[in-house]
Amino acid sequence: MAFINDNYQKLPGNYLFSEIAKRVAKFQSENPNAKIIRLGIGDVTQPLPQVCVDAMKKAVDEMSNAATFRGYGPEQGYAFLREKIADYNYKRRGIDINADEIFISDGSKCDCGNIQEIFSLNSKIAIADPVYPVYLDTNVMAGRTGSLKADGHFEGVVYLPCNAENNFSPSIPNEHVDLIYLCSPNNPTGTTLSREALQNWVDYAKDNNAVILYDAAYAAYITETDVPRSIFEISGARDCAIELRSFSKTAGFTGTRCGYVVIPNELTGSNSAGDKIPLKNLWLRRQTTKFNGTAYIVQRGAEAIYSEEGQAQVHELINYYMENAKIIREGLKKVNLTAYGGVNAPYIWLQTPDKMSSWNFFDKLLTEANVVGTPGAGFGPCGEGYFRLTAFGNRENTIEAMNRIS
Ligand code: MLT
Repeated sequence: MAFINDNYQKLPGNYLFSEIAKRVAKFQSENPNAKIIRLGIGDVTQPLPQVCVDAMKKAVDEMSNAATFRGYGPEQGYAFLREKIADYNYKRRGIDINADEIFISDGSKCDCGNIQEIFSLNSKIAIADPVYPVYLDTNVMAGRTGSLKADGHFEGVVYLPCNAENNFSPSIPNEHVDLIYLCSPNNPTGTTLSREALQNWVDYAKDNNAVILYDAAYAAYITETDVPRSIFEISGARDCAIELRSFSKTAGFTGTRCGYVVIPNELTGSNSAGDKIPLKNLWLRRQTTKFNGTAYIVQRGAEAIYSEEGQAQVHELINYYMENAKIIREGLKKVNLTAYGGVNAPYIWLQTPDKMSSWNFFDKLLTEANVVGTPGAGFGPCGEGYFRLTAFGNRENTIEAMNRIS
C-alpha cells in the first residue's frame, strides 16, 4: 500500500489560479459568445524584449554546432548571467551582493515553494494575510502546519494581517518565529514596505535568529525613488535574509522561465547540535540534487536585458503595464471604488462595493461585465472584501474592461 502525504489533504480545494481558470472555462462554455477579458492571474501579454529574442536565437544557433554546443550548465547558473545580475541589480545600486551568492533557477514560483525545504519542519513561519498562496501551501504540503481552522487559518502559523488600517504593512509579531515571508512590492495588494518597516523586520530577524524570505519579484515596477528594491539595501540584512527575484514580470518571461535566489555567504542557520551552517551550502546541495539548471538559451535571453539597449526595452515594457495600472486606478476612482497599489506594482487591490464578498464580486464581474479578476479571499481571510486586478492585460482590453466595470 502506497500511503499518501496526508498534508496535501489539509489544503482546501484547488490552487487559487486553477480554481479561477476552472470557473472561467465553465462560464465560457455556457456563454460561448462572451468576450472575456482576463485581468485575474498576473500573466504578461506583451512580447519579449527584442534583445532577449535576438540573444536566444543566437544561442539556438550555438546549440546547433558541436564547437559551441552546451550540455548541462554550471550548477548555480552561468557566470555571464550571475555577474550581470550582481552588477546591474546590486552593485550599481550600492548593494553588496556578489555573483557567487546568486543561484539561477527556472522561475521564482519554484524557488518560493522549494526554499522552505532547507529549514527544519519545526520552524515557525510567519506570513502576511493576504498572501501569495505559494508560501503557505508549500509549508502545508511539507507538514509545517496543523489543520485548517474554521476561520480560514492553519494551526501553527503566525499570520500577519494586512489591511487598509495598517497600510498593508505587517506588524512585527509579539512572539518568536523562525521564518518570515515578506513580499514587496506586494502580491496581491500592490503596496510596498518602507525602508523603516524593513529595518524593523531585519532587526527582529536578527534578535530572533530568524530568516526573512524576501520576494522581490516585482522590484522592477517600483517608480517611487524612496522605496527599497532589495532587502539588501537594509543594514544587517546580509545576516538574516534570502531574496527571490524573477525575470517573469521584469522581462515577460512567465512562459520562458528564469528567476534567481540570492543567499549571502555569511547567512547561516543552526543544526540541532547548535552549529552554524551556511544556508547557501544547503541550497546548493538541494538544487544540485533536484534541479539540473535553466536552459542555456533562456539564460542568454535573460542576460540580454543587462545592456543599455536591454534596459531601455525593459523600461518600455514596464511603462506599458504601469500605464494600464494608471488606467485601472483612475477608472476605479471614477466609479467611487477605493483602490490601493498600482503605483509601484502591477496589481490594484480594490475594496468590493457595498461590502460584497470577494467571490460574489468575482461572479458579478464575470457574468455582468465578462471581466476576470482575483477574489481577495483567495489570498487569505484578510483578503475578504477585496479584489485584485492586474495591469498585465493589453491596452485595448484594459480600457474595455474599465468601461465595462463602470
Ligand atoms: C499571480 O497572479 O499572483 C502571479 O501570476 C502568480 C505567479 O507569479 O505565480
